[in-house]
Amino acid sequence: MFAVEDPILAAIRARHAAENLPPIHISPDEGKLLHVLLRVVEATTVLEIGSLGGYSGVWLARALPAHGRLTTIEKDPRHAALARRAFSEAGLAARVRLIEGAALEVLPTLAPGFDAVFVDADKEPLPQYFDWSMRLLRRGGLLLCDNSFFHGAAVDESDQSPAAGGVREFNRLAAADPRLVSTIVPVRDGLLVGLKVAE
Ligand code: DHB
Ligand code: MG
Repeated sequence: MFAVEDPILAAIRARHAAENLPPIHISPDEGKLLHVLLRVVEATTVLEIGSLGGYSGVWLARALPAHGRLTTIEKDPRHAALARRAFSEAGLAARVRLIEGAALEVLPTLAPGFDAVFVDADKEPLPQYFDWSMRLLRRGGLLLCDNSFFHGAAVDESDQSPAAGGVREFNRLAAADPRLVSTIVPVRDGLLVGLKVAE
């Protein structure tokens, strides 16, 4: 582990465990990588699908300028409450818009033009999240997706679960879409990084 957390991030992560949230938040290394990528493209508007307890959101929102905006979608009210608390404790409440609801109901209400989209939610609808992300990203924007390896299930055809199928299809779409140049970075459970090069 090379990325160092400050006490605020460490406390948010500790609360995840204390509140028995599923232990699926990103790692500090992955958070730092996301943060660096957003800084590289000088992102000001970022969309996150799946806030969980706000840990990744703090890494993302901190990469934005003061006038920037992270929009993050969370369907579980308990997770959303913890995420709000995390953003508030990190001094980021003004920079974050948390929308409570099912992503497939919220996504059609958003205006396009995001500098980056980070997909980190339920896996079965990933092909639909791919379509929405590509629609909402500006040209030159970053498509980021967690769990590209899905614990190895992404390349294990004996795993025919809907979740594994969703991950496989997202990876396939990202590789095949001529609007996107992408690769998978082997950090934690795999992070797909793509650049939208055409509308
Ligand atoms: C799982 C892990 C994740 O990081 C995630 O975003 C969703 C699910 C999992 O292990 O099932
Ligand atoms: Mg994840």
